[in-house]
Amino acid sequence: MTIPVLTIDGPSGAGKGTVSRQVAKQLGWHYLDSGSIYRSLAIALLQNNVNPAQVGDIVNTARNMDLAFDCTGELEVTLNGIDITPQLGTESTGNMASKIAALPEVRQVLLQKQKDFKKLPGLVADGRDMGTIVFPEANPKIFLTASAEERAVRRYKQLMEKGIDVNIRQITSEIEERDRRDKERAIAPLVPAEDAFFIDSSAMTINEVIAQVLSLVPQHRSA
Ligand code: DC
Repeated sequence: MTIPVLTIDGPSGAGKGTVSRQVAKQLGWHYLDSGSIYRSLAIALLQNNVNPAQVGDIVNTARNMDLAFDCTGELEVTLNGIDITPQLGTESTGNMASKIAALPEVRQVLLQKQKDFKKLPGLVADGRDMGTIVFPEANPKIFLTASAEERAVRRYKQLMEKGIDVNIRQITSEIEERDRRDKERAIAPLVPAEDAFFIDSSAMTINEVIAQVLSLVPQHRSA
């Protein structure tokens, strides 16, 4: 039996996480937050004092990561028995994740870990290369984007709500820097799949985006 996969790729801050989680919930499907796998590896490197210049050590750490995801509520991640949820969303973890994600050897090791999430009754996968590399068979494939300014404002509000005092200019330049790195890397760069549907969420509410994504899912339309 074919297992349906819906992929949502796009730059950071476009709303992929919130939209994917809600869509997975409404469809009753599994959810893969692939960015959190790269983020977990970034944390594992810090925990084990791995030199980020030693690719072999990074690959070994990636191979030996024992990761457990709990997606029943807000995502909770345990790495080698330790709850790493609080560190997962920080800017420094995201920036480190973006750097190690540019290494082909790392992507190769993490590929199967991501494919293993594909299980019945279906999967919603969010990331950068879900529709192009990890699940090329997916249908539909969504490319969710928003302007860099809008993404910076959203991130700013999120951090302020958490009581983290940040500077909007710094956030905008970090977002632009991360976009550039994710788009320009030689392997699995952030590019839309040829058969992807584009959604620009700059002027849309989350609920409007969710409704549009669901309207593209054949299993939802026929439900
Ligand atoms: O989606 P995110 O911000 O949690 O992802 C963190 C970094 O991980 C992102 O800057 C690039 C990398 N990443 C990737 O290369 N491929 C993916 N499928 C998901 C994330």
